[in-house]
Amino acid sequence: MDESIMDSTTQELMARGKGILAIDESLPTIGKRFASVGVKSTKDNRRAWRELLIDTPESGQYISGVILFDETIRQQAVDGTPFSWLLQKLGILPGIKVDMGARPLAGCPGEKVTEGLDGLRERLQEYHGMSAQFAKWRAVISIGEEGSLPSACCLHVNAHALGRYAALCQEAEIIPVVEPEVLMEGNHDQARCREVTARTLQAVFAELERQGVALEHTVLKTGMVVSGKDCPEQAAIAQVAEQTVQCLQECVPAAVAGVVFLSGGQAPTTATAHLNAMNAAYPDLPWPLSFSYGRALQEPALQHWAGQADRVESARALLLHREKCNSLACTGRYAESLEVAS
Ligand code: G3H
Repeated sequence: MDESIMDSTTQELMARGKGILAIDESLPTIGKRFASVGVKSTKDNRRAWRELLIDTPESGQYISGVILFDETIRQQAVDGTPFSWLLQKLGILPGIKVDMGARPLAGCPGEKVTEGLDGLRERLQEYHGMSAQFAKWRAVISIGEEGSLPSACCLHVNAHALGRYAALCQEAEIIPVVEPEVLMEGNHDQARCREVTARTLQAVFAELERQGVALEHTVLKTGMVVSGKDCPEQAAIAQVAEQTVQCLQECVPAAVAGVVFLSGGQAPTTATAHLNAMNAAYPDLPWPLSFSYGRALQEPALQHWAGQADRVESARALLLHREKCNSLACTGRYAESLEVAS
């Protein structure tokens, strides 16, 4: 592993005031997103949508990396430029989702384990040849009713797979973005989310250490400590910021290169407000706190575009607006009044 390449890629990915745009939806997931706006999920429509997202020149001011899906890293813009080259031209690092999705975990009803380790070494080499400089692997952890889930087995196997993935990435000079997502689905309260998030992070970092993963070349992608979607009492923004930061301080080693959040179904402006509240109240954490949002960056643009070619430029403006707001939130300089002006 060339340490200096890994150092500079990590620094670029976690550059102050920038975050990651996640556009790595699998075929079933992009199908659902497109269906919500009445667009058919064809290869051409997916290419057009992803070209809209990628070929937004001003994005380089706010976005350090874009996570692509296997289909997308092999695709080209209308003028024939491969998407990964286009990103590099804009000063943005191409990244790739390398897991093969979460599948039911044998012996653990209601829980999942993420697959994709077989052949991963070879796939990473291939992606590296296609300019990918960082990768993502997502594990999914559900919170069950009355303390039932997650099981110790589910946490262990997912953490172990994240460790295997991260070690293989670093061997290939690719920065691993390690994503154990604690789902927001459920009626659990914020305290329960904090407890499960803490157990999850502890299991993950124990495995990374056991498997010799270099934390200074590792990015954590995590959910925030929020109330379950169906919980009657929703934690306020300041409370989410406080509980999330305290949980990270407890569980994330200071050597980790950075922490980026997923949006997990939060409304776009709420995801921005939460990130902003954390950076405004806690400016001196050992790691930069930034974003790696999918829906919270794409949603307004997708709703507006809805497959119409004459709306590409106006949809790009909506995307850029969310990118800019989240960039400001990385340094606690976002204000709700910016939304009114949009
Ligand atoms: O793995 C999850 C995605 O990369 C982030 O998506 O912000 O819509 O939760 P999200």
